[in-house]
Amino acid sequence: MASSLPKHLTILGGSGFLGRRIAQTAILNGYSVTALSRSGKPPATTSPVDSQWVSKVNWRPANIFQPDSYKHYLEDSDVVVHSIGVILEKVNYKKVVNGPGSGFINTLLSFSGNKSVGDDAVAAASGKLDTYEKVNHESAVLLAEEYLNSTKVPHPKFVYISADNAPAIVPGGYMKSKRAAEFDLMELSQHTNLTNLIVRPGFMFDETDSTSVRSGLHKVIDFAHGVPGIGSLVSPSISTQQVAKAIFSKLEEGTNVENEVVSLENLMAMD
Ligand SMILES: NC(=O)c1ccc[n+]([C@@H]2O[C@H](COP(=O)([O-])OP(=O)(O)OC[C@H]3O[C@@H](n4cnc5c(N)ncnc54)[C@H](OP(=O)(O)O)[C@@H]3O)[C@@H](O)[C@H]2O)c1
Repeated sequence: MASSLPKHLTILGGSGFLGRRIAQTAILNGYSVTALSRSGKPPATTSPVDSQWVSKVNWRPANIFQPDSYKHYLEDSDVVVHSIGVILEKVNYKKVVNGPGSGFINTLLSFSGNKSVGDDAVAAASGKLDTYEKVNHESAVLLAEEYLNSTKVPHPKFVYISADNAPAIVPGGYMKSKRAAEFDLMELSQHTNLTNLIVRPGFMFDETDSTSVRSGLHKVIDFAHGVPGIGSLVSPSISTQQVAKAIFSKLEEGTNVENEVVSLENLMAMD
């Protein structure tokens, strides 16, 4: 007999740009949701629609590198999601890309040399900023292993947010760390009952935001993608809402979910 309890999803990085839309879509799909991040706080919301689902999520503090801070949440989780990553090592680019325009060009120029700037240089020198290897690769494998050690569910499912590609300006270590995590997670599933859903979005934007630098970049990227002749060289952007929806269409496909890598092309094609 099927259980009447809602399925439970735990997401590391639940307050993030994509993570919040995964948490929202999980609530809409009837899951109970625990969203973990170092702050433990929900994202700031502006719309009444957001405040409705935000109040249903269990927002808690945890650090992915400190399993004792979260392993008790994993026990009864039908799905665990890893939605944490850095695209530029030793640079806190998020405060620029998700914010208003000033300083953006400066920061982009500093990226190409992979140098730290301003406050970030101080943080990098003190080891406070994270590396590709640590955040994109090691933390995902650590989380999957902790999930397997803790889980009491018969079919543990692990969602890893990877990436389709990265612009040329991003150092190669980014994609290398993403593919290394994918490889290790697939290996882990070969000798355990873990099932992986590996999701590869491209540049993401939020459908409810039209004023940030990110929203402007999304328009430029999609314009370039549509230009005959060069369009095929530029991958289209995709909304966080569409990525989240695609994850749940896959998770809800049935009980016989198998390891799967969902490409950007697949994500774009899913409604
Ligand atoms: N954004 C894009 O366009 C894009 C494109 C392709 C792929 N991706 C991938 O998508 C995933 C999510 O990206 P995003 O843009 O949503 O990231 P984000 O906005 O930077 O969110 C990261 C989340 O992780 C939490 N976090 C960071 N370090 C943590 C730690 N040590 N322990 C626990 N929580 C931690 C953050 O909250 P706290 O700071 O409070 O801990 C936040 O909730 C990443 O893997 C990224 O590589 C993103």
